[in-house]
Amino acid sequence: MILKIENITHQYKGFYAIQNINCELSPGIYGLLGPNGAGKSTFLRILVNVIAPEKGRVLYNNREITTLGEHYRDNLGYLPQEFHGYRNFTAEDFLKYVANLKGLDKQITQTRVQQLLTMVGLVDVRKKKLKSFSGGMKRRIGIAQALLNDPEILILDEPTAGLDPSERIRLRGILSKLSKNKIIILSTHIVSDIEYVADEVLLLKGGELIEKATPNKLLSHLTNQVWHLQIAEDELEQYSAEYAVSNVHQQGANIEMRIISKEKPNESAVNVEPRMEDIYVYYFGAQESNVVFN
Ligand SMILES: Nc1ncnc2c1ncn2[C@@H]1O[C@H](COP(=O)(O)OP(=O)(O)O)[C@@H](O)[C@H]1O
Ligand SMILES: [Mg+2]
Repeated sequence: MILKIENITHQYKGFYAIQNINCELSPGIYGLLGPNGAGKSTFLRILVNVIAPEKGRVLYNNREITTLGEHYRDNLGYLPQEFHGYRNFTAEDFLKYVANLKGLDKQITQTRVQQLLTMVGLVDVRKKKLKSFSGGMKRRIGIAQALLNDPEILILDEPTAGLDPSERIRLRGILSKLSKNKIIILSTHIVSDIEYVADEVLLLKGGELIEKATPNKLLSHLTNQVWHLQIAEDELEQYSAEYAVSNVHQQGANIEMRIISKEKPNESAVNVEPRMEDIYVYYFGAQESNVVFN
């Protein structure tokens, strides 16, 4: 099974949201990482054939998805970034309803719905209406509906949005237990969502695919370039301007920093093992949450 993305470009009224993306995806888990506005959702909507790209094409087993219609949809599961379900449906009825739309056999639906409710941890609230669900619960029912037809291609647009830390961990568990014979793509702007589950990471920046590599390969780009160091308070501004900063910790007049630099930045600096967070900072700049003052 192979999904081939050839020269995809897409614009919204003169603004290029996706530029010249080329890549091939075989079964595995792919983390699509990039800051807000990078083009992740646009790219995924093209992959599921919700929008047609201005240029380029997507091939599923060497056939254009635009010509495959139902044959493609039958093999696809999709969780859109904005997913609400139907407010007045119970969790169980909603899944049965979607199963029916997807043309699943009644017998299969029965078992499949119960399995999925268990898998996403919603079996106890299966009789509750979706309108009573928290953001995290809605995300989980969204993941379940995407899995109903046991798709070969599973596309999850920010599946962890609104999930609390334990729900995030649960999702990682779900993903890693799914069949190895699927192409799974999940988008996120949060490194820890994909750090341990992705076979490959796709870095999307300004609509361009700037990297496609295994996490280890990406980390190796920063070997000997990540430093832990101490600086004085009045040096903070200068260091922040000069380096990609992946962490700052200030305690009174003492400041500890984690930065990326080709050369040793000062006497106190020691090389530390690169982490995915450093990769994010290196390519995209600081994540608010990494900079902690107390
Ligand atoms: N329907 C639209 N009309 C105009 N601009 C859009 C539309 N959808 C997205 N954009 C713009 O395209 C860029 C990429 O958006 P999106 O694909 O949603 O990125 P991401 O999912 O990475 O946050 C953003 O600058 C966004 O504002
Ligand atoms: Mg998005």
